[in-house]
Amino acid sequence: MSAAIASEKIKHYPVLLNELISIISPQNGGTFIDCTFGQGGYSNKILQFPKTKVIAFDRDEKSIPYAKNLKDKFKSRFIFYNKKFSQISEIENKNNIKGIIFDLGFSYSQIKDSSKGLSFNDTGRLNMKMGLNNFSAHDVISILNQENLESIFKHFGEEQKSKIISKKIVQERKKNVINTEDLVRIINQSKKNYSKIEKSTKIFQALRMFVNKEISELINGLVKASKLIEINGIIALVTFHSIEDKICKNFFSGLSSYESISRYIPEKKKDKLSFEIINKKPITASSEEMKKNFPSRSAKLRAIIKKSNNSFDTDFIFKKFQKLLNIEKLSSKL
Ligand SMILES: C[S@@+](CC[C@H](N)C(=O)[O-])C[C@H]1O[C@@H](n2cnc3c(N)ncnc32)[C@H](O)[C@@H]1O
Repeated sequence: MSAAIASEKIKHYPVLLNELISIISPQNGGTFIDCTFGQGGYSNKILQFPKTKVIAFDRDEKSIPYAKNLKDKFKSRFIFYNKKFSQISEIENKNNIKGIIFDLGFSYSQIKDSSKGLSFNDTGRLNMKMGLNNFSAHDVISILNQENLESIFKHFGEEQKSKIISKKIVQERKKNVINTEDLVRIINQSKKNYSKIEKSTKIFQALRMFVNKEISELINGLVKASKLIEINGIIALVTFHSIEDKICKNFFSGLSSYESISRYIPEKKKDKLSFEIINKKPITASSEEMKKNFPSRSAKLRAIIKKSNNSFDTDFIFKKFQKLLNIEKLSSKL
């Protein structure tokens, strides 16, 4: 696909681009892994620096034409995998990884793609698959029992009306198939006096996270990134909602504390931590960016640097979020 054809598509504006670039310093060269390629906003910017290479991942096959454009331009300096970022350790050359970046969630073009059904303005069969999925939101809403739906809405969406919404879904699906517009109607009927944020936001977020197994993807992606990154390399992550940010914050603070060093290491060797947090408080978008790029209003950028090859433990993050990981396992019923 040519650049001209690609640019006819809906453009995604990369969030916190300058802030991210100043943290990962591509001007010094090296290999960078872009875990969430999208339309390639971050990858393209990194490749402008001559001594860089980018290995990019995206689960959505609609990223492929954008990746082809970069491949034509940058040849052997760029590789793209239509894979999930939980698979980053499958890359061939694991040396000299200077930066691993994640820009979580969905792109502007994905939310505007009605075939994906990620927006509550869409109509028709529920979907929400970002790519490489085993089941859709239609399967979740049609098959899981009330208790399971309530648990997904409550824990992934932090939705206060989870019980009543899941009850209404189960009642209504006995009579009719629940399409996207029906789900929006059920939510609106259950949340009469709520107006602050769009009433459907939390339920749609919960379903999207469940369908795309976003919790285990993020945890496994971060754990693998922590093992792949070389000394003085940086892992940087842009999150868009509180659960993603909580996972990232906990993982980074766990890695940069003494508890993350294996307890089998003798006391005297516990002198050097493996990681250091770069920015204690997350970096957020400037008011100018928020005006120009609406999704940036909820973006938070956190970063960590690897300081030594001392052994470190990552089991703590699976334990900490075990409850959410167990809820994801409800998908085995589909
Ligand atoms: C916010 S967009 C990234 C935009 C990108 N930074 C750019 O500048 O165009 C997030 C992208 O991550 C992808 N994605 C989400 N979860 C993923 C996963 N687990 N593995 C691979 N890609 C994923 C989505 O398909 C989407 O294209």
